Amino acid sequence: MTSSTGLRPAAATVDIEAHLLVLFGATGDLAKRKLIPALYSLMKRRNFDDTTRVLGVATSDLSDDDYREVVRDALIKSGVDEDEAREWCAEVISYQTIKAGFGTLQGRIDEIESGAGLPGNRVFYLAIPPGVFDDTIEGIASVGLHESEGWTRVVVEKPFGVDFESASELNGLLHRWFHEDQIYRIDHYLAKETVQNILVFRFANPIFESSWNRDRIDSVEITVAETLGLEGRASYFDRSGMIRDVVQNHVFQVMTLMAMEPPVRLDSGAIRDEKVKVLRSIYPMTIDGVVRGQYSAGTSDGDIVPGYQDENGIEGESKTETYAALRVCIDNWRWRGVPFYLRAGKRMPERLTQVVVRFKRPPVYLFDGEGACRVHANVMYITLQPDEGFDLRFDVKIPGEGLELTPQSLSFRYGDVFGELPDAYETLIVDFLAGDQTLFVRGDEAEEAWRILEPVIGLDSNPESYEAGSWGPRAAADLITGEGDHWHPQHED
Ligand code: BG6
Repeated sequence: MTSSTGLRPAAATVDIEAHLLVLFGATGDLAKRKLIPALYSLMKRRNFDDTTRVLGVATSDLSDDDYREVVRDALIKSGVDEDEAREWCAEVISYQTIKAGFGTLQGRIDEIESGAGLPGNRVFYLAIPPGVFDDTIEGIASVGLHESEGWTRVVVEKPFGVDFESASELNGLLHRWFHEDQIYRIDHYLAKETVQNILVFRFANPIFESSWNRDRIDSVEITVAETLGLEGRASYFDRSGMIRDVVQNHVFQVMTLMAMEPPVRLDSGAIRDEKVKVLRSIYPMTIDGVVRGQYSAGTSDGDIVPGYQDENGIEGESKTETYAALRVCIDNWRWRGVPFYLRAGKRMPERLTQVVVRFKRPPVYLFDGEGACRVHANVMYITLQPDEGFDLRFDVKIPGEGLELTPQSLSFRYGDVFGELPDAYETLIVDFLAGDQTLFVRGDEAEEAWRILEPVIGLDSNPESYEAGSWGPRAAADLITGEGDHWHPQHED
């Protein structure tokens, strides 16, 4: 497996100082499935287990040993050898119930830090439901845990607010106790190698960047399609919907990386400045630029699946969208007039995260004629997952008499060259431990994204119906206005 280095130069030594990671939500699904296995694999690979301690915090009444068992089971499930997992847990892991209050938590932190000779560097990782963010942040500050002899960082999982107002309130609360440079808002899409590579693809390869504008590009399309349905998350998802759950964060992150200007330097401030500028160039959405959908019964991955209304945990007649397609205009010098078509959907025919850049056709159609002689637009497919890679489509002449054109591709697949890509969470953990904020969402960035979507979130109208296992409601096709343009893939594909 390739080592994860975020966007730092590969040769740079990433200094991970001795620290205590206080993991709120320690018994939750995210902690068990993602964080703990990623932390373990990272510590083993980078060998910093003797300078790191992890204190799990949650509401359950557990002893250190009980929690070590929880962690051990999670590690075994992720493929770690049982004895190695046990040994690691005994050395690194402790637990404190939050029911005993923040004063007790403070005592426990002091005890662990002095026992292990730690210098007071602390990460508070909030892997908790948004409903308890406020109390947790206030609780940390109420006993002065946000100030220590070393550095203090706070990591916040998504969702970051549910609209503009709640996001700015949350920013206000965080900023009361922490500086922006101590706050790490997670969007796991930013840690995907293929998403980071958008910057390298654009700014290390002038051949593409010189075409990256309104003169050469007709439209840009971003698809985040999943075959999954609710996966036991009905109560969260039904209050959220696809625009809040995926568009505001993952899809917008990909869009800003595709559209941003070159940063003046490769540092987190400069990169995030450029991303925010893209968002500032977008007017708030209007209803006619959005199609919302909800899946009805159908087939997914070969199984017959119920419609959204009949899913476990969905009560009454829900108007929550499980699909959204948007036409976004970035009103700046580079992009004015180039539509960005965005869509995200659950219960789609396949799992696919892809950017499709459709270039302008030639100004004079020398070869255009009937049927096979038609000139196709050049198209760049950037596949972010799965089967990660690039395909650039162009026309060639079919050898033989007569003039017939056929589109062919120049292709690159990550898997063929690099094998398996590293886990996104390992990258994020190294980065917040090293104090690198590049792959985290800045406060103003989160607010700007909500500002754009505010008019189209939580709408009271019925979404269009689409069959599970299809590419979403047909009405989405009408959002695409360019001549000969359509979603890739579309219904008929
Ligand atoms: C999460 C959403 O943030 O991203 C989920 O809450 C979604 O609903 C997931 O399934 C998609 O992530 P990935 O990495 O599987 O594309």
